[in-house]
Amino acid sequence: MKALTYHGPHRVKVDNVSDPGLEAPDDIILRVTATAICGSDLHLYRGKIPGTSHGDIFGHEFMGEVVEAGAAVTAVQKGDRVVIPFVIACGDCFFCRLQQYAACETTNSGRGAILNKKQITSPAALFGFSSLYGGVPGGQAEYVRVPKANTGPFKVPPVLADDQVLFLSDILPTAWQAVKNAQVTKGSSLAIFGAGPVGLLTAACARMLGAEKIFMVDHHPYRLAFAQQRYDVIPINFDENDDPAAFILENTANHRGVDAVIDAVGFEAKGSLTETVMTNLKLEGSSGKALRQCIAAVRRGGIVSVPGVYAGFIHGFLFGDAFDKGLTFRMGQTHVQAYLPELLNLIEQGLIRPEEIVTHHMPLEQAEEAYKIFEKREEECRKIILVPGLNETQRHA
Ligand SMILES: NC(=O)c1ccc[n+]([C@@H]2O[C@H](COP(=O)([O-])OP(=O)(O)OC[C@H]3O[C@@H](n4cnc5c(N)ncnc54)[C@H](O)[C@@H]3O)[C@@H](O)[C@H]2O)c1
Ligand SMILES: [Zn+2]
Ligand SMILES: [Zn+2]
Repeated sequence: MKALTYHGPHRVKVDNVSDPGLEAPDDIILRVTATAICGSDLHLYRGKIPGTSHGDIFGHEFMGEVVEAGAAVTAVQKGDRVVIPFVIACGDCFFCRLQQYAACETTNSGRGAILNKKQITSPAALFGFSSLYGGVPGGQAEYVRVPKANTGPFKVPPVLADDQVLFLSDILPTAWQAVKNAQVTKGSSLAIFGAGPVGLLTAACARMLGAEKIFMVDHHPYRLAFAQQRYDVIPINFDENDDPAAFILENTANHRGVDAVIDAVGFEAKGSLTETVMTNLKLEGSSGKALRQCIAAVRRGGIVSVPGVYAGFIHGFLFGDAFDKGLTFRMGQTHVQAYLPELLNLIEQGLIRPEEIVTHHMPLEQAEEAYKIFEKREEECRKIILVPGLNETQRHA
């Protein structure tokens, strides 16, 4: 079969690899009908995640049709159309029973990215996300093996198109968890850092929940313009205004700041040359630029919600400021499985339309070009869906 594979930083290509087969009784094999490229894939693509090897198949946002099911699979059957959560969870351990699926303690044979680990268990395995997260082949492929098929695969109704439900695999639940963690409700004020797919869907969720004022920070005018037009955010371009937090304070009552901030940027945040250099030299784990801005922009007693991925340490993390302001931090990988029924319901009611952020549909066979377009933000790219076998003439927005 064809699959998108890694061959070193900024080098991916579509290779012919062997078809996956069932390995455990609760595995299924899925024929992929749609798969997306995520900002998380860009961390891998740029060679920033240790434990990524030549030939690894990427992809953790995918859906399709069940073509084979192991003897112990009862939740789905051959022929079912399902979306697959990017988090692989057993459904039965201490954390799964708490619905904290991303902390599942039984699926990951790798060690995760934590530095001071001691005896704690690793977090859940993730599709296509390096040996640190289990070395499980991803779904930017024609077929994929899905382990723990009694917990993950989520059946979707035929009336909804792939575009409408694909993002249940990751970015919609991620945006949802981010706004829930931020306790966004009617009348809230909010600042979202990052206008990528995660930031945009976060704005969509916050609007739906009745947030009153939403600031959005990025430096790609076309992403900010879309968010302004579609979600009525107040855009702040950090290339034009290098202190977005100061602008946010100036534009809230009594210079208090917003009720909550959401960091949908993560460890590759731009804006601090020193940190970018130090991070590349591995003297710094993550760039703290976006996080410092978040801490500065939120009101006293407010919440900092972080869906953006961080790794290791940040020297310039102003913990004293966070203490002085009495802040709450909530973060982490998304407990995808926990949110799917309620999110499907919102899609069915038309209250949330995740497909509106899509700009590109491309054949899986052109995934190499698709990575380049998404990474370089070419063609005003917001989100790319790869479709195995899509022919060139069907390539469309
Ligand atoms: N927690 C989870 O489970 C989960 C799930 C999906 C994605 N993520 C993470 O969410 C983050 C965003 O993903 P995405 O798909 O939207 O990626 P993306 O790379 O398309 O978007 C990131 C955006 O942040 C902007 N940005 C960079 N530096 C900034 C700064 N200093 N201030 C404000 N904006 C800045 C970029 O211009 C870009 O538009 C990534 O770190 C990704 O790994 C986490
Ligand atoms: Zn993702
Ligand atoms: Zn578990």
